[in-house]
Amino acid sequence: MLAGDLGRGIGVIGAGYVGLTLSVFLASKGVRTICVEKDEVKAGKIMRGVSPIHEQGLPELLQRVVRDGMLEARTEVGDMLERVDTVFITVGTPTGSDGAPDLTQVKEASRQVGEAMSTSRTATPLIVVKSTVPPGTTWHVVRPIIEEASGRACGDGFHLCVNPEFLREGSALQDTMNPDRIIIGAKHSEAAERLKKFYEALYHPSKIPTLVTTPANAELIKLATNAYLALKISFINLISQICEATEDGDVGVVAEGLGLDPRIGPLFLRAGLGFGGSCLPKDLRALRWFAASRGLDTSLFDAIIGINRAQRLRVVEKAESKLGGLAGKRVAVLGLAFKPGTDDVREAASLEIIRELLARGAEVRAHDPAALDNARQVIGESVIYCHRVEDCLNGADLAIIVTEWPEYAALDPSTLKSLMRNPLIIDGRRILNTRRLIEAGIRIHTVGLHNPSA
Ligand code: UDX
Repeated sequence: MLAGDLGRGIGVIGAGYVGLTLSVFLASKGVRTICVEKDEVKAGKIMRGVSPIHEQGLPELLQRVVRDGMLEARTEVGDMLERVDTVFITVGTPTGSDGAPDLTQVKEASRQVGEAMSTSRTATPLIVVKSTVPPGTTWHVVRPIIEEASGRACGDGFHLCVNPEFLREGSALQDTMNPDRIIIGAKHSEAAERLKKFYEALYHPSKIPTLVTTPANAELIKLATNAYLALKISFINLISQICEATEDGDVGVVAEGLGLDPRIGPLFLRAGLGFGGSCLPKDLRALRWFAASRGLDTSLFDAIIGINRAQRLRVVEKAESKLGGLAGKRVAVLGLAFKPGTDDVREAASLEIIRELLARGAEVRAHDPAALDNARQVIGESVIYCHRVEDCLNGADLAIIVTEWPEYAALDPSTLKSLMRNPLIIDGRRILNTRRLIEAGIRIHTVGLHNPSA
């Protein structure tokens, strides 16, 4: 593939997980990429080739593309449109106060692109909305802002597409390099065709299944995907509660059996402490809000959210009943990130569990291989943060596995027993070998496993 097939250059607005990973990947494919990030600290780091996020493989590649001059970071759009044909908008859409996504950053990025276009000689730039937005946003919010700021008409002076992103944190680069599908939403076929050709060149010789539809359908596909994944997780967590209350019940086996049905599939059926992160909870709320705004039934979405919260609180209830009260008890929380492989604590189960443990008077010590600093910023100093897992376990009355980091699965039962004041474990992520621990004299409650003696 020749870099020329991909145009003169690409602009990316917003250097979060999506924007930064996309920028680094494009630059690594020989495309001159300009990444606009309004946070000066973040932009400064990128300019120096330092990754502002914890993501496997990203630091090395970022360093290389910056050194090779393929990736440039800046804080303003400025004259970017003189050097690029395509601009991806990848800014955040956090949940606003009423549950609706806050579109402030999307509007601001659209305005900046429009203004840059008004003085640019680039004939018909292609603007691609990758941010996750409610159906109708690209056509009814983004388009008019760009048209007004640029003085150009969509379909003539510029092209506009929706192109949702499905990457997962922890494997963001891999997912960007090997997407399982490409969804393109556009009102004008020339716009869709341009983006489709761009991706064909980018992924050549691989042929990625591509669906071209309207902007609203593309926007909805993203929200519906994440809501469906959340549904699967809450479903299996509900089954896990049933397993705990059923003689010999084991949700791991039930999930395995369910997954053998090709209509169901094995993925996203890992029971545990529910879903967190920057996307699943937020996108579910956005879809719920959108359905409610249309006067539709939201009870399924409410149930998914309710089960997710209950799954976390059940662990605290269990802890309280096992210890006969939590006041003054030392609890070791193992894992703070919302999943392994990331330092991200957004909507992590750990936050809710720790808040609840503290409210019931427990003394909390926490460990995480990557997320201690991020957690400290959210939780503050009411928790003792431990860099070594042994320090976290030392003198504990209870340990709760909250994130399934591999090092916790490898913990030696005899070490656990000798370190803890009271050898009791709640395995919220089902990673420990229950039998080995019981044999070592440790009491263990595993989520989704019937164990009356724990
Ligand atoms: C998710 C989507 O997978 C991705 O397509 C989208 O672009 C962004 O949101 P991510 O947030 O990185 O990605 O994490 P993911 O791996 O999907 O896990 C989300 C949460 O669900 C985590 O808290 C994880 O622990 C939990 N989970 C996942 C389960 O509890 N059980 C499962 O079976 C799978």
